[in-house]
Amino acid sequence: MLDHTSIADLRKSYERAELNEDASQADPLMQFDQWLGEAISAQVPEPNAMTLATVGSNLRPSTRVVLIKGFDAQGIVWYTNYASRKGLELAGNPYAALQFHWVELERVVRIEGVVEKVPAEESDAYFNSRPLDSRIGAWASPQSEVISGRGVLVANAARYGARFMLNPPRPTHWGGYRLKPDNWQFWQGRKSRLHDRLRYTLLSDAGWLRERLAP
Ligand SMILES: Cc1cc2nc3c(=O)[nH]c(=O)nc-3n(C[C@H](O)[C@H](O)[C@H](O)COP(=O)(O)O)c2cc1C
Repeated sequence: MLDHTSIADLRKSYERAELNEDASQADPLMQFDQWLGEAISAQVPEPNAMTLATVGSNLRPSTRVVLIKGFDAQGIVWYTNYASRKGLELAGNPYAALQFHWVELERVVRIEGVVEKVPAEESDAYFNSRPLDSRIGAWASPQSEVISGRGVLVANAARYGARFMLNPPRPTHWGGYRLKPDNWQFWQGRKSRLHDRLRYTLLSDAGWLRERLAP
């Protein structure tokens, strides 16, 4: 068993960078664009991985990791199975939160907003850009359902592979979601736990209020 005292003693001083009102962007999308670009340039592992939090009808939150596939003024896009747990939770409650943690850069971005499905043509275009095995995989995996063993996936993949050959169509239960942010937070680790946190809140006139939060 791991020594719990040694876990409690794990701590790190964050000293790489700072985030100020003066040097940050007035538009959070531009700040995100800059930080994601820096995470990619720094070659952090899986810079495009983000945690997605949803809330079920029983009011219990749940999280999982998904990959960002696009972002612009309309929102942040990822792809998944609409019948998965997250899909069912989003169907019942469209409010969700995303979080990126770029450990090596000592940075976190948190994004909250309302989620909608992307138009079918947009999902088709992305689906058709995926490698063949991923496209077959979307058919083969009844995501989040209980299955009797791995063999189910292997058999499904063989069956759908034989059925669709090189041109599987996008399953109607698979596609994109877009979260339209109304709240962003950018966290930069600093020395002595005096971290920088800037929060951007969407105002009714479509501008952004930028405020510093205590760490
Ligand atoms: C790095 C990483 C990236 C992932 N990307 C996706 C993704 O883009 N879409 C997806 O449906 N699942 C993705 N997954 C799997 C999910 O984390 C999760 O297991 C799955 O979507 C089922 O979640 P749910 O049962 O809460 O709906 C990824 C997992 C990891 C570790």
